[in-house]
Amino acid sequence: MTPRSWLFIPADSEKKLGKADDCGADAVILDLEDAVAPARKPIARDMLKEFLAARSGNRSPQLWVRINPLDTPMALKDLAAVVPARPDGIMLPKAEGPEDLIQLNNYLDALETAAGIDLGAVQLLPLVTETPGAALRLADYTDFSLPRLAGLTWGAEDLSSAVGATGNKDAEGNWHFTYQMARSQTLLAAHAAGVHAIDTLYADFRDSEGLALDSRQSRAEGFSGRLAIHPAQVAVINDSYLPSPEEVETARKIIAAFEAEPDVGTVGIDGKMYDIPHLKQARHTVELSEAYGA
Ligand code: COA
Ligand code: MG
Repeated sequence: MTPRSWLFIPADSEKKLGKADDCGADAVILDLEDAVAPARKPIARDMLKEFLAARSGNRSPQLWVRINPLDTPMALKDLAAVVPARPDGIMLPKAEGPEDLIQLNNYLDALETAAGIDLGAVQLLPLVTETPGAALRLADYTDFSLPRLAGLTWGAEDLSSAVGATGNKDAEGNWHFTYQMARSQTLLAAHAAGVHAIDTLYADFRDSEGLALDSRQSRAEGFSGRLAIHPAQVAVINDSYLPSPEEVETARKIIAAFEAEPDVGTVGIDGKMYDIPHLKQARHTVELSEAYGA
């Protein structure tokens, strides 16, 4: 089951790393990129290696690593340091397009083989809207396929800085059009590639109510989860990306109705019509609620 909450933790902060095991997130993203100052990258790599090695085997939360961008010499150093400790996945920042994912996939194939890890065991989640060029090319992920690709996610902060913007939301807290477009295209590109769409972070980490509203809306639109920056956001996100009890009940009714009449393509329940796409959706809803014990 794909993670709902993905909590960023700066990899060079001993105190914050200490919160990882009990933070309640489905996944943590141990960050070697923007949250770590250039001078501290080597220390962060060492701390991360040790952190991952101490947590081998079945992990909860999943342990992901955000490496530095592929066009910097740091990326290979990051990968060489962490892949042998078998992170659950790698987050790639500033992905320019599918060719970056293919290049990273090749690096991972080589490093997994060298470390005696199953080929494809380390998953991949790229940030696909962090440069203007990348945001303009999202349709390139249509029909793109890579077994280790878990999803696509997007970021607004680097994009707004790249276009010289002074902000990315209006006074009511709604994304400006450029970011709405990037967000919607990420959603479509992810589903066109057959992977999960993961929504970006909610920057105001003290505003739980706003986060809950925004996250429920995000789930209704087709996102499977979202990035987080503060432990206080985790429980709100986990809850918001679960189907409600009413949704689960309806889903069970739909599944039961189709099971009762295996040869029909549509059923009516409580005065509403349901067809095969609804059945698929209903199965997904029940799977989700069972996977997370709701
Ligand atoms: N992971 C783990 N622990 C975290 C955390 C995180 N992302 N963010 C905060 N905490 C811890 C703090 O260390 C603090 O611990 P304490 O109670 O033992 O002192 C506690 O949670 C409460 O933190 P708080 O005082 O509310 O926030 P802060 O001012 O210490 O930190 C940020 C604010 C934004 C700097 C911090 O949340 C952070 O580092 N977030 C992640 C940033 C990041 O990785 N960005 C890259 C992706 S955009
Ligand atoms: Mg960034």
